[in-house]
Amino acid sequence: MKKLMAANWKMYKMRAEATATASDLVARLDGRLPEDREVLVIPPFTALWAVGGAFAGKTGLSLGGQDLYPAKEGAFTGEIAPDMLRDAGCRYVLTGHSERRHVLGEDDAFVGKKTAFGLAAGLSVILCVGEKVEERKAGQLEAVVTRQLAAGLADVPSEVSPEALAVAYEPVWAIGTGLTAGPKEVEEAHAMIRAWLIERFGPQTGPSVRILYGGSVKPGNAELLLGIDNVDGVLVGGASLEAESFAAIVTA
Ligand code: 13P
Repeated sequence: MKKLMAANWKMYKMRAEATATASDLVARLDGRLPEDREVLVIPPFTALWAVGGAFAGKTGLSLGGQDLYPAKEGAFTGEIAPDMLRDAGCRYVLTGHSERRHVLGEDDAFVGKKTAFGLAAGLSVILCVGEKVEERKAGQLEAVVTRQLAAGLADVPSEVSPEALAVAYEPVWAIGTGLTAGPKEVEEAHAMIRAWLIERFGPQTGPSVRILYGGSVKPGNAELLLGIDNVDGVLVGGASLEAESFAAIVTA
């Protein structure tokens, strides 16, 4: 499967800026997107149509939503349904991003509901997991991440298509801080997640589910990170906001 190079724009960019950045990215990657890579841009909801318009007719570029609510429709003020994301052109959606967990207070069980619902609605879901610095220091990395995986994927059928599911390992202490997990830390965490996925989904699907790394990915460290075993892509925040730096990561 192709490496997934994902840009999470978080709560940045008005429509005009989103259009300009997406168009700039299309121009920079024209004829230069490596065969083994797929690009995903995850803008704020208000910019989905703008980015989708800039990507129209291009191959290898997909659109994603930053979150979803686990219902088809209903009285859920402020929320967004998976069908609405698909209607806006999304193929992917994030669940359990650390900012949703730690700023908005989402718990593991709710993240699990979202993940299963998004998959059932036909979206490809990227479940985000990762430990806080105090948890890592207390030796709880494996306990925290496997708890997040178990709850986050609790209702996902074992026969899920590996194209429809990805896991993003984003250590909370590396997000937006400039601190990247070292190659050994990334390798160990990804190996642990891979073993868990094989145990949970079996020897056919488990090895194929993509595991992305996220947390201060930059043009200068992307090549190193992408060369680590079980790193099947990256989820980029700050360095994805400029087309120049994100294109450099995509082609690293
Ligand atoms: P940064 O790349 O800004 O550290 O953000 C990572 C992230 O949270 C992507 O989802």
